[in-house]
Amino acid sequence: MRISVIGTGYLGAVHATGLAELGYSVVGVDVDSTKVAALADGRAPFYEPDLDPLLRKHVESGLLRFSTDFADAADADVHFLCVGTPQRQDSLAADMSFVDAAVDALAPHLIRPCLVVGKSTVPVGSAHRLAERIEALAPAGGDAELAWNPEFLREGFAVEDTLNPNRLVFGVRSQRAESILREIYALAIAAGTPVVVTDFPTAELVKVSANAFLATKISFINAIAEICEVTGADVTKLADAIGHDDRIGRRFLNAGMGFGGGCLPKDIRGFMARAGEIGAAHALTFLAEVDAINLRRRERVAEIAREVLGGSIAGRRVAVLGAAFKPDSDDVRDSPALTVAGGLHLQGARVTVYDPKAIENARRSFPTLTYAESTIGACRGAEVVLHLTEWPEFREVDPALLGSVVARRNVLDGRNCLDADAWRAAGWSYRGLGRP
Ligand code: UGA
Repeated sequence: MRISVIGTGYLGAVHATGLAELGYSVVGVDVDSTKVAALADGRAPFYEPDLDPLLRKHVESGLLRFSTDFADAADADVHFLCVGTPQRQDSLAADMSFVDAAVDALAPHLIRPCLVVGKSTVPVGSAHRLAERIEALAPAGGDAELAWNPEFLREGFAVEDTLNPNRLVFGVRSQRAESILREIYALAIAAGTPVVVTDFPTAELVKVSANAFLATKISFINAIAEICEVTGADVTKLADAIGHDDRIGRRFLNAGMGFGGGCLPKDIRGFMARAGEIGAAHALTFLAEVDAINLRRRERVAEIAREVLGGSIAGRRVAVLGAAFKPDSDDVRDSPALTVAGGLHLQGARVTVYDPKAIENARRSFPTLTYAESTIGACRGAEVVLHLTEWPEFREVDPALLGSVVARRNVLDGRNCLDADAWRAAGWSYRGLGRP
């Protein structure tokens, strides 16, 4: 079976590499020639643990090719659509222009029976519309069938999640489509990965519902953190305690800066927008509150930083540890850390940022911030240190050593994961979010 993967961003590049690892011959197609050139050279244009060696291996073996020409996808039996659906500039809705453009560019090359498999996160109803469009534009007509197979991979664990998914969802309209998907994922299925076979709208909704649930869980604990801040309670212990109830579960109950990235924020907004379009806005109004709680956390961090500095920010030296939206990623899309760094900078603070992998991307989005090349470099002379992305190297830093380079030993732990006792023992004034 030959496979094409349309779109080679965080999702597509990993998916294409994963399929090559399963032994398929894969061509990745993207309109971005810089990205394609890097991938064809065996280099991922972004940081994702474990991806580069696998990518190199399969580019070298010849199983994995990359191209900017959709005609190179023509002889594939299966085409995965992996292009992005960011938030629209002018509304909360998902921007479908990349998906639509990909389908329009691919369809004229669908000259033989094939299966197009959508993986992008799309508004419910899109698959139905796209199936009609493919049938109308493809020379193969009805023999170019669509299926919807949402993706649940997490950045930072993308390779592992692709090779060993925790579930597979097949939105299909025929036995043929289901059989093809079962064949592609045979190894994972044999290893016990559960498969849920559904219609199109259910498959589309599974994805946005999962992300909406995760976002709600994070905002729930962050709302409780606000109460803890007023009452002097400790949200981290509270989360441990409620998390022991396995109906609740401890995962995704880490209070702190809140969620960012290219998925959760835009997916809850796109879901709300779509609910409005289909006349069910009331069902998801709670997601507006989830979003608001999340954004309040970023303001709260800036507020505490100002408090720690005695009420005035202008001209004060602030060290920001972390720029990526989460550790093990260089992705700065909607990054809580950079929102705070940028906000403090606009208020006149002298902000220096360090991140192990995301400096280049951060510099592109926030060119006016100052960037350092190490934790120590960022903290030298700082009056407050903000720990905003929980990279292991920040957790492992020696507070006594760091204490010797800062101007004042103030640390604000926006991720609630530093060892507060160790920092206090080294003479730091430690502040967390929702904990004393
Ligand atoms: C998310 C989902 O977890 C994936 O299942 C999904 O496939 C992906 O979106 C997608 O739609 O493509 P991702 O954006 O990589 O994955 O990141 P998460 O691990 O979900 O983290 C999202 C944000 O929530 C991060 O900023 C993280 O720091 C924050 N978070 C996470 C918390 O603030 N608290 C927690 O307890 C957990």
